[in-house]
Amino acid sequence: MPSSGRALIVGGTGLIGRAAARRLLAAGWRVDVTGRDPTRLPGDVAAAGGRFVAADRGDPRQLLAALGDGADLLVDCICYTAADAARLLPLVREAGSTVMISSKAVYVDAAGNHSNSDTAPHFDGPIRETQPTMAPGDTDYTTREGYGANKVAAEQVLLDSGEPVTVLRPSKIHGEGATRPREWVFVKRVLDRRPAVFLARRGAGVDHPTAAANTAVLIEVAAARPGRRIVNSADPDAPSALEISRTIARQLDHAWEEVLLDDGADEGLGGHPWDARHPIVLDMSAAAELGYTPVGDYATTVADEVEWLVSAARGGDGAEFLPAPDDAFFGPMLDYAAEDRYLATRPG
Ligand SMILES: NC(=O)c1ccc[n+]([C@@H]2O[C@H](COP(=O)([O-])OP(=O)(O)OC[C@H]3O[C@@H](n4cnc5c(N)ncnc54)[C@H](OP(=O)(O)O)[C@@H]3O)[C@@H](O)[C@H]2O)c1
Repeated sequence: MPSSGRALIVGGTGLIGRAAARRLLAAGWRVDVTGRDPTRLPGDVAAAGGRFVAADRGDPRQLLAALGDGADLLVDCICYTAADAARLLPLVREAGSTVMISSKAVYVDAAGNHSNSDTAPHFDGPIRETQPTMAPGDTDYTTREGYGANKVAAEQVLLDSGEPVTVLRPSKIHGEGATRPREWVFVKRVLDRRPAVFLARRGAGVDHPTAAANTAVLIEVAAARPGRRIVNSADPDAPSALEISRTIARQLDHAWEEVLLDDGADEGLGGHPWDARHPIVLDMSAAAELGYTPVGDYATTVADEVEWLVSAARGGDGAEFLPAPDDAFFGPMLDYAAEDRYLATRPG
């Protein structure tokens, strides 16, 4: 089975694609990545031999042209719907093996709730790949109800093809080049020399992180053992939001007061991206059985993203990825005026 050869990564200049390209290039693969904007190909990937191929994901002819004479490994980072999957099938049939990036958002708990439901899901424990999923659907995949349902539909199209397709289900992905770098919520505070970090529900929320670099290992492992399977992709540890905030403060050598807010405290304060009501943890035993050894735990692997964010904020590469001050996602999590009011008026 191939441990090197030619790899084609569809949507390969983004967070997962660039991590996979780096890993595969270092292992001796020839790597071509598709996208629409050649300037998004990182310099180090190009320097290591990674090649950019312009191909719109929605255009079957451009996709086939990008495949050229075939590939030993095909990775699709931007397969969101059954139609996307159907457009990939002609390439899948010509590839030695395929990896499709899905999401843990497909999983439902006993009550049918998933990670994008209005009611927070409550899983019994670490989620295995056999956990029930949402029913396949084809409503708008950019909506909270449509995202997971369309991913399930896309998974099914690929798995039903009978070809060796590995479906990976990552959780909250972190790494250099993230379009929504969640850790910004703590990095930004450090850069602004804030005296305190505010954490809703005492920072107890656990929503399993996934280093893009760890997903890249799993892609390489799956390529070496082509097969039809579904595998979770997450870090070896699942730190709480409080632990994540401490990891980042420690990495940036910053000390702050931890304001741990009880459930029911001011709803406008302490918001953060890992605020799951009940822990969301992926069981990683299927990956381990496949031969996956992660490159590192959360604290080790997040260092790249933290360093990149600091450098970008100081004018280095990637400044265009940094959230604007009025960003709808991060803005409410960085409401310094409200925090200052709280600090000034709390009982001594
Ligand atoms: N982020 C998370 O926390 C998370 C969690 C679970 C699962 N996932 C899954 O992970 C995948 C996202 O991977 P990622 O974070 O690497 O994405 P990303 O950083 O947004 O990168 C997307 C890549 O696809 C290219 N692209 C986008 N639209 C395209 C189009 N129409 N035609 C051709 N290329 C296109 C982009 O380049 P151009 O824009 O220049 O074309 C870029 O190379 C998705 O399948 C998502 O469902 C993400």
